[in-house]
Amino acid sequence: MGYNLLKGKRGIIFGALDENSIAWKTAQTVHDEGGTFVLTNAPIAMRMGQIDELAKKTGSEIIPADATSVEDLDNLVAKAVEILGGKIDFVLHSIGMSVNVRKGRAYTDEKYDFTAKGWDVSALSFHKVLQSLYKADAMNEWGSVVALTYMAAQRTFPDYNDMADNKAYLESVARSFGYFFGKEKKVRINTISQSPTATTAGQGVKGFAGFISYAEKMSPLGNATAQDCADYTVTLFSDLTRKVTMQNLFHDGGFSNTGVSQEVIEKF
Ligand code: NAI
Repeated sequence: MGYNLLKGKRGIIFGALDENSIAWKTAQTVHDEGGTFVLTNAPIAMRMGQIDELAKKTGSEIIPADATSVEDLDNLVAKAVEILGGKIDFVLHSIGMSVNVRKGRAYTDEKYDFTAKGWDVSALSFHKVLQSLYKADAMNEWGSVVALTYMAAQRTFPDYNDMADNKAYLESVARSFGYFFGKEKKVRINTISQSPTATTAGQGVKGFAGFISYAEKMSPLGNATAQDCADYTVTLFSDLTRKVTMQNLFHDGGFSNTGVSQEVIEKF
């Protein structure tokens, strides 16, 4: 690869925890395409993760921010503009966590303070990121913001639990904020609805191994990998997609439009 699609562009990348993270692959690919960026993650994730290694490889600085804290986000946006030497062209929101899932609470037995925390981290954080960027007037015209989502927002996957509701909210924020950001600042906002992917967050979903194999067999092109997602995200950050906004874009090898596949029929 290497088409210089992001030459001269500056960005912020949330959510690179380890080398399996979709954000990790995206950071590497953005770097290969000539983009510069700051990396950010929650302070706790920095201690657990290997973000320093990624920062070194991509010549990036790290600014810790809890994506539920408006104060942290305002600080992140101001520092990113300062470090990168100008306004922002692209932002990746790659953040998700459900406390109910972590604690093994079923969808029919939610503990609501867990639900509220998971919603704040996974869904409202996207509005907070956008509002911080908007109020600081930190985005360049024709900039692009992408958040990652999953098809459980449209169709029921029982073990996806309250993350399904969080993703529905996240996708709605992309449309609603996309209107204002588009009209007033010519910035586009989209969500990518990605195939199941073997990452820390993905593997937290109960029955993940069955889930990912089923999706693989149902998708005419097979599951989209984290690297495939990184490549797609780069196109959305590039100038080649300037009029794509307020969309939820399925990136799943055709899964979402497949009723059943021959391989799945043969299992019965
Ligand atoms: P991951 O576990 O590598 O990334 C999740 C990230 O969220 C981590 O870096 C974590 O530190 C960060 N995070 C959690 N709480 C935070 C907070 N308060 N502030 C800032 N960051 C915080 O897993 P993955 O799969 O790369 O997840 C990225 C995104 O992709 C998530 O939105 C996830 O829901 C979405 N996605 C994942 C799929 C999968 O099967 N892995 C499928 C479809 C969407």
